[in-house]
Amino acid sequence: MSVQSSVVSRFTNLFGEPPTYVVRAPGRVNLIGEHTDYNDGFVLPMAIDRAVWIALRPRPDQRVILHADDFDDHIEFYLNAIRYESAGWWEYVKGVAHALNGAGYTMRGWEGVMAGDVPIGAGLSSSAAVEMATARAFAAVGRWPWDAAQMALAGQRAENEWVGMKCGIMDQMISAAGRRDHALLIDCRSLATELVPLPPQTAVVILDTATRRGLVDSAYNERRAQCEAAAAFFGVPALRDVDMATFEGRAAELDDLTRRRARHVISENARTLAAAEALRHGDAAAMGRLMNASHASMRDDFEISRPEMDVMVALAQAAPGCYGARMTGGGFGGAAVALVRAAEAERFAVTVATAYHNDTRLEPQVTICQATDGASVVAGRL
Ligand code: GLA
Repeated sequence: MSVQSSVVSRFTNLFGEPPTYVVRAPGRVNLIGEHTDYNDGFVLPMAIDRAVWIALRPRPDQRVILHADDFDDHIEFYLNAIRYESAGWWEYVKGVAHALNGAGYTMRGWEGVMAGDVPIGAGLSSSAAVEMATARAFAAVGRWPWDAAQMALAGQRAENEWVGMKCGIMDQMISAAGRRDHALLIDCRSLATELVPLPPQTAVVILDTATRRGLVDSAYNERRAQCEAAAAFFGVPALRDVDMATFEGRAAELDDLTRRRARHVISENARTLAAAEALRHGDAAAMGRLMNASHASMRDDFEISRPEMDVMVALAQAAPGCYGARMTGGGFGGAAVALVRAAEAERFAVTVATAYHNDTRLEPQVTICQATDGASVVAGRL
C-alpha cells in the first residue's frame, strides 16, 4: 500500500469518515551547493519521490491533534498555547505552528494522520518534509494561497528558534517549491529561484551509506560559526560576497582552519553557478566533474565527510556510466548522490551497492530517484 493510501485508510478508521484533505511535502537531494545556503549563497537541489503525507480534517476549535504512524505516537496542542516540551518529531510540527502564528496567518485547528517514507538522518531532509507538510495542512484549513518562500521561512524559523538547529533555507525552500523533472537553483539571499532541467538520458541515484549522525548533535552549528568568522574577517555580511580572487589575495592572513572553511564555501558557490549553467546546456559531463570537485572540497576543506562516505563516493565515481558523485546534505554520514547515464543506472546501483557492502560490511540503500513537485494538496473536498 502506498503511504498516501495508508494515511487515508488510517484516518478513515480513526475518524469514521474520509479526510477532507491529503497533503504531501517531499524530501530533497541536493545536487550541489553544500553549506552555502547560510552563507547567503547558491544551492541546486531537487525534490524527490519520497515524502511526508498528512490526511486531515479541520476542527471547529484551536486544537491540533496529529497521529504519527511511523512513530506509533500522537500529539495534541492548542494553537494559542504552544510550548516546547522535549526533542522529538512533534516539535517540528509545533515549531511551524508557532512560526505561522507569529507571521500573522489565520490559524485553524485540525486533526489528522501523518506518515512518510523519507529516510530519517540520511541527509534527505525528512524534517523539512514534516515542516512543509505541516505548513501545507495549515494553509489548506486556513484557506490561504501557498507562498513557497514564506512557508519555507516559517519552517526555517521552526528549526532555528524552536528546535535549535541553525540550518539555512535550502531544505524548506525545495520542499515547498520543487518541480517535477527539474532541479531548482536557489539564491539563498534573495530567495529568487530558477528551474533548471535535469540532463536528458540521465538518472539521479541516491546512495545511502547506512551511517548516521544527527544534525543538532553534529558540528553543523560550529561550521556555521567558522563561516561567520571568515565573513567578518573580509568585512562582508556573508561569504557569498567574497569571490575567489579576493579570497586568494588575503588567504595567507587567515589561520589554516578558517582558510579551508572559507575556501570550500567560496569555491562551492562558484561550482553551483557553473553547475546550473551546465544543466541549462544539458551538459551531464560538466555537471559530473563539478560534483566530484564538490566532494573533494567537502572532504578536505570543510571536513564534513567520513570514511564510509568517501568509500561510497569513490566507488560510485569509478563505476561505469557515472558522470559524478558527491556526499549530499549536512554531512558526517547519510547519503551520496550520483548523476548516471540512465541506461546504466540499474546496473550502477547493483555494482556500487555490492562493492560498498564488501568493503564496509554495511547495508546501503541505493535508489534511482525522480524529481517531483514540491508541497501540494493531493486530495481535497472543498
Ligand atoms: C542541512 C541544512 C541546510 C544546509 C545543508 C548543507 O541540510 O538543513 O540548510 O545547510 O545541511 O548544505
